Amino acid sequence: MRIYLCNVGDVPSGQGRRILLPGGDSLALFHTSSGIRAVKNRCPHAGARLDDGILRKDKLTCIWHGWQFNLESGKCINQENARLTLLPLCIEGQNIYLLQPDGDEAHDCSS
Ligand code: FES
Repeated sequence: MRIYLCNVGDVPSGQGRRILLPGGDSLALFHTSSGIRAVKNRCPHAGARLDDGILRKDKLTCIWHGWQFNLESGKCINQENARLTLLPLCIEGQNIYLLQPDGDEAHDCSS
């Protein structure tokens, strides 16, 4: 299953965007120097919204206490055991979708 999130043009290069999901959760989309990345919108340290963070190339800095994350790997740069989980995306044309497993079948962009 895939969920439409927004248009590529809605996430300008070097910026983040909050996307509300059904049920009230949100995710953060970032247009890094390597492409569009998505993570849960909660910092693993103390729960700050990550879409408010500062993005430089593919490095995100949380504005509450300065933890930094590599958005290619999800690894926290200054806290060894912390990380972000990168959420699977599909970009088809200008549309960005969140991929979610349904049943045992994994879907790709063409499904
Ligand atoms: S809540 Fe993000 S660094 Fe503390």
